Amino acid sequence: MTAPFANATIKNRQPIVEELKKLLRNSNKVLEIGSGTGQHAIWFAPRLPWLTWLPSDLPVKLFGIERWIKDFPSDNLAQPIALDVSESWPITEHDVIFSANTAHIMQLQEVKKMIANGAGSLPSRGLFCLYGPFIFENTALAKSNIKFNKKLQDLHPSMGIRKFHDLNMLALAGSMKLLEINSMPANNHLIVWQKI
Ligand SMILES: C[S@@+](CC[C@H](N)C(=O)[O-])C[C@H]1O[C@@H](n2cnc3c(N)ncnc32)[C@H](O)[C@@H]1O
Repeated sequence: MTAPFANATIKNRQPIVEELKKLLRNSNKVLEIGSGTGQHAIWFAPRLPWLTWLPSDLPVKLFGIERWIKDFPSDNLAQPIALDVSESWPITEHDVIFSANTAHIMQLQEVKKMIANGAGSLPSRGLFCLYGPFIFENTALAKSNIKFNKKLQDLHPSMGIRKFHDLNMLALAGSMKLLEINSMPANNHLIVWQKI
């Protein structure tokens, strides 16, 4: 099997890692949720050498992530683990959760579990970093995101760009406070919550 490839990661990986370098300078271990192909993990880990990066995804995705890690190993990059946010979570000791482009793919119930269980798994001052397109109150959705949202909903009505307000309510319910909202290229954002 050839390694899976996601073109978007080539464009967004460097802007994301530049933010992570600043945000995670005092962090130890990142649990990545919904690692996808694994291209982010193999790019981020060597550029954040002081911490450990642990990729995860649904079991069906692990083989592809392992393929990328085989070709681009890093001392601080762990083998991926199976993690379905809607099932019981494996116990991993992490002080950061990072997830990119997952909230609009997962069903809303799964997003709720990702935030609630993710918050519950973090220590005090731990960070939850969520990257992707979001809908912000009083801000018109960019044309590209309107088109993307329609494409998602045509694919499956349970998919769609989530409202920041709803995600923030879930984060607050999980004892996290909003730390930063970073504007990113192509009308994406990197939202960061901190466990109280
Ligand atoms: C659009 S991909 C994003 C992949 C990668 N993070 C990126 O930005 O390129 C969405 C990912 O979410 C994962 N995913 C979907 N439902 C999930 C669930 N219930 N638990 C964990 N991961 C899930 C998918 O398997 C997929 O890899």
